[in-house]
Amino acid sequence: MVGDIGDDLGQRVVAAVGAAFDVACTIEDAVVRPSQREGVDYQVNVAMALAKRLRRPSREVAESIVSHLELDNMAETVVVAGPGFINITLSTGWLGEHTSRLAADSRLGYVLATDPQRVIVDYSSPNMAKEMHVGHLRSTIIGDSLVRLMEFAGHEVIRQNHIGDWGTPFGMLVEHLIDEGLAERDFSISDLNLFYQQARTKFDADEDFAERARTRVVALQAGDPATLELWNRLLTESKHHIEAVYALLGVRLNPDDYKGESTYQPWLNDVSDELTRRGIAEDSDGALCVFLEGFTGREDQPVPLIVRKRDGGFGYDATDLATIRYRAQDLKGDHLIYVVGSPQALHFAMIFAAARKAEWVSPETTTTHVGFGSVLGEDGRMLRTRAGASLKLTDLLSEAVERASALVAGRTDLPEEEREEIARAVGIGAVKYADLSSDREKDYVFDWDRMLAMDGNTAVYLQYALARIRSIVRRAGEAPPLGSPVSLTEPAERDLALRLARFPDAVQTTITNLQPHRMATYLFDLATTFSSFYENCPVLKSEGQVRESRLALAAHTAAVLERGLDLLGIAAPERL
Ligand code: ARG
Repeated sequence: MVGDIGDDLGQRVVAAVGAAFDVACTIEDAVVRPSQREGVDYQVNVAMALAKRLRRPSREVAESIVSHLELDNMAETVVVAGPGFINITLSTGWLGEHTSRLAADSRLGYVLATDPQRVIVDYSSPNMAKEMHVGHLRSTIIGDSLVRLMEFAGHEVIRQNHIGDWGTPFGMLVEHLIDEGLAERDFSISDLNLFYQQARTKFDADEDFAERARTRVVALQAGDPATLELWNRLLTESKHHIEAVYALLGVRLNPDDYKGESTYQPWLNDVSDELTRRGIAEDSDGALCVFLEGFTGREDQPVPLIVRKRDGGFGYDATDLATIRYRAQDLKGDHLIYVVGSPQALHFAMIFAAARKAEWVSPETTTTHVGFGSVLGEDGRMLRTRAGASLKLTDLLSEAVERASALVAGRTDLPEEEREEIARAVGIGAVKYADLSSDREKDYVFDWDRMLAMDGNTAVYLQYALARIRSIVRRAGEAPPLGSPVSLTEPAERDLALRLARFPDAVQTTITNLQPHRMATYLFDLATTFSSFYENCPVLKSEGQVRESRLALAAHTAAVLERGLDLLGIAAPERL
């Protein structure tokens, strides 16, 4: 089986450490990293930490590891440098053989997880009865990419779209529909947006309306049929709207994945009883609260999770407590992931701590809030329309496709239908890639020109590179069979082979850190490495074995780019 070179070296280092010293060393301790240093392919950093444990000079420890290291024919040179780094340069002959083995592997060297986990991913999760806005874009596309990556790695993923489909907004809306006689009418999502604003204005200004809206929430909770019917109509319309956005984005979320706030309403009493009984929740001024150690706000005031409000109602905190109990205890997730903006970091830290205190979440279970920054306009402020309104996702995505159409308008050689498909892939891809290629924890500036640039770290650059490589392979006539021999004579061939070999590591670091930008960076590096290979090494004009080998490298690069883009959820048109 062919796998990651770093993992292979790591196992060999573990064996060497075991043979040289009488200490336990795991593959995690072995720390083998791809090296950026000229002439060095991998660096092993285990000696320094080991030297501390053994109280011996680190260079001596490194030398001793090297003398026990069995690398068969993998390495050209193994050198100890500085305080005890072990620098490995792979044998070019071996790398060629490794490359042809990789090319024959449908997983491109990434070995399925040996301990598959059940991962629950909460993402997208927009609020209903409002048009989805750009704020939900990030959660949707980051979550989608993480899901694709973890499924590729062999984990079982359960998607949870925690839509906001409950609470005061619905009391307000239903009351407004009845007030205005709108209940009899058909309505669309833009109507809903308007109704929401009107209802909100009335709610804030008119105490009588506010009171009726609150009573309406109680009726909703009590399951009053007329109220439920209107609530359902609002939801159905909202779902049509978000499904259209998901389809446009090519995001893998479907109706089975909806587990909105309303789902958990039947359990809220039970959750608050359980927390009270176990002494985790306590009364505070008539509200039922959970106070957790270490969570304080201004002037060291403890910040509570509010399980039940003073008026007896349940809110966002209570719903998330019931939700995490369900995900850990009923769905039995090993890893619970929440892809939600960074402003909710404190909320999730407290939900996780409370769920651990209640022993709903076991110590073996991992909980992660995958936070992210805001999308900013070119003025550095939150992205808005020129008129200052919050930007709607559908408008933004149609503009992306429109701008991309202008890019391909000149390609009159392509059938109209294909041009449209390309415009869609390029436009949507540009928006997604701009988001995924930046470190998610930072804010990023939404800049049309930059995200649609043909050169630079953009989707269209990668899509174009892939289309070009495919066309080279196509023009060659028959592609060389998978796994045909690869010989690496030119430095540019070797560089490309080494990049290709690092795909499994790119997948793994992306998953470990839950940072899609790492995959994006890898793909961009791969595409630029290919482009210098192509400049230096003629493919179609070369002959015999050399031509076969270069074609194999090209076909393999196409396969990796295609897979990588797919893991980011970015479509790759056949031609561009
Ligand atoms: N609907 C929420 C919002 O728009 C996000 C929900 C995230 N998921 C959760 N389990 N709280 O802010």
